[in-house]
Amino acid sequence: MDKLILASRNKNKIEEMKQLVAHLGIDVFSALDFPDLEEVEEDKPTLEGNALKKARYVNQQTGIPALSDDTGLEVEALDGAPGVYSARYAGENASYQDNVLKLLEALKGKENRAAQFRTVVALVDGDQEWTFEGVCKGKIIEDQIGKKGFGYDPIFMPNEFAETFAQMDPNIKNLISHRGKAVQRFLEFLED
Ligand code: IMP
Repeated sequence: MDKLILASRNKNKIEEMKQLVAHLGIDVFSALDFPDLEEVEEDKPTLEGNALKKARYVNQQTGIPALSDDTGLEVEALDGAPGVYSARYAGENASYQDNVLKLLEALKGKENRAAQFRTVVALVDGDQEWTFEGVCKGKIIEDQIGKKGFGYDPIFMPNEFAETFAQMDPNIKNLISHRGKAVQRFLEFLED
């Protein structure tokens, strides 16, 4: 494999993923390099379903092996919600901030703050398809702390750390995060 396209337009995510695969020395593109690609609706009931749907579309349109990811934040006291609906937890065009505030409200007064991020990365190359999973366990804190990262980062504190993802050096986040672990599995697969 000498080329790879990331099936995403999210600049934060593209940046994180490019760093993770940089050492492979392959040409890494993203959906931003192909403006004609349409937005793929994430309407499947599972992270696996959404990740495969995005990677299949981008691979079909570009002919380049496509890597996509879908992530959900699974909160124990909410029976796994927002999960696959994390991006639109507070409504269709919800901002990161809307989602964060809605989650803090839903957990108000609850003692159990346990949560995990789960990422499924899908690789599609013609009729060959693979998925790789990564999980990062932690807790939802009561107020937002930190300015780095994106999404739910200011309220997620990974286990065994005293800072949120939004306070953390991005290189450390990449090492321990759900997406980092899923991409790590993908890299191990490539090395095999
Ligand atoms: P998506 O699968 O990347 O679309 O992400 C679903 C939702 O989870 C979005 O609201 C993202 O902001 C959020 N999300 C995904 N990855 C992360 C992360 O690493 N940190 C915080 N929030 C994330």
